[in-house]
Amino acid sequence: RSSPAVVTGGGPEGAAGSTVSVADLRGPATPAEGGTVRRHTLTARTSTVDLPSGRAVEAWAFDGQLPGPAITATEGDLVEVTLRNAGIEDGVTLHWHGYDLPCGEDGAPGATQHPVTPGGEFVYRFRADQVGTYWYHTHQASHPGVRKGLYGTLVVRPREQAGEELDLTLPVHTFDSTVVIGDQEGRAVHTARPGTPVRLRLINTDSVPHRFALAGAAFRVAAVDGRDLNRPGEVREVSLRLPAGGRYDLVLAMPDTPATLVLDHDTGRGVVLRPTGHTGTDPAPPDTSGWPELDLLHYGEPAAVPFDGGDADRHFTIVLDRAVAMVNGRPAFAQTVDGRGFPSVPDQLVAEGDVVRYTVVNRSLETHPWHLHGHAVLILSRDGTRYSGSPLWVDTFDVRPGEVWEVAFQAGNPGVWMNHCHNLPHQEQGMMLRLVYD
Ligand code: C2O
Ligand code: CU
Repeated sequence: RSSPAVVTGGGPEGAAGSTVSVADLRGPATPAEGGTVRRHTLTARTSTVDLPSGRAVEAWAFDGQLPGPAITATEGDLVEVTLRNAGIEDGVTLHWHGYDLPCGEDGAPGATQHPVTPGGEFVYRFRADQVGTYWYHTHQASHPGVRKGLYGTLVVRPREQAGEELDLTLPVHTFDSTVVIGDQEGRAVHTARPGTPVRLRLINTDSVPHRFALAGAAFRVAAVDGRDLNRPGEVREVSLRLPAGGRYDLVLAMPDTPATLVLDHDTGRGVVLRPTGHTGTDPAPPDTSGWPELDLLHYGEPAAVPFDGGDADRHFTIVLDRAVAMVNGRPAFAQTVDGRGFPSVPDQLVAEGDVVRYTVVNRSLETHPWHLHGHAVLILSRDGTRYSGSPLWVDTFDVRPGEVWEVAFQAGNPGVWMNHCHNLPHQEQGMMLRLVYD
């Protein structure tokens, strides 16, 4: 009875064949004991916004800001966000990327709610139970909506905070070929006393991967996609590749001499960490382009995982390729799943408690950052190489051309969930499917 088509709308009534009524799967209305309520209203509209350099861009923005207002909470708080649409003709929703909240709060048009049309509003409510670095963005017309600015950051900190800390949230976004990191186009400078704990929260809000290198300091990758790694070791002179939609938390102690976080090996771009008391000019960062890429499959130390990924109740193979598929009723080349474009891709049916295994195969010549809503997956292997480091739980993983990834998760969050390529033009072409709880 409900239309499965995302772009045209469709509703929260649940998928055909599913007994789940997504509209009822809402978050609690109160914080956990000792928590507070974090209330925001985000108003989406078209705006002309000045980038840090003063260059004006035609944006779609929340509250006229690029990025939208930063949402922060402490573990156990209740986050309540009223979304208003003040003139985005395509409609708008809020999807909480990487946050495993009740399905009715997920902001997926065609699966969990109708898009909010001009003049309308929708209230999202969820407990901040997951600590870490996340982001939010529109899921209606997500391409072009995210590219034009309908996104912001979501950071949840633990209740017990270690005293003085330099904690920087650094979303990377490209506006019409201008790359902005945090709120700077070139190099931002942050100072703290030598030895101060520093946390850099890197968030890739673009549709393509970005590369980071930290010159002048040793660091650890403390968390990936908001989830802590087990005993991550100290590394230096490595580069990190961050998939579209993904997040890394880097931690380090403020060094005695300036260090630079370099973006995409462009030494003019990034963030300078300068110890207080340092005088004189900051040293120019070195050329980082030859630094080896840190392979997170072999980083950190093993730890117990809650299920055996080799012994799954359900096994799905997802083949990603560019193929001829029906697009708007006509055959055309499109980004597809198993040779079909959404909504013609069959739903994946699971039952609560199932261990679900995916084999994700990229047969195309482009990278596909595969993203799941409502669930983090454990990476089992890439091209037959098993992970040997910390268990790696992610919500987005980059499947490069020719690669085969094995991942697994336990179905523990009932509802109807989108699963798609986070290169958003690919998603728009149909590289998407639904995971449906029976
Ligand atoms: Cu960040 Cu379905 O998306
Ligand atoms: Cu893709």
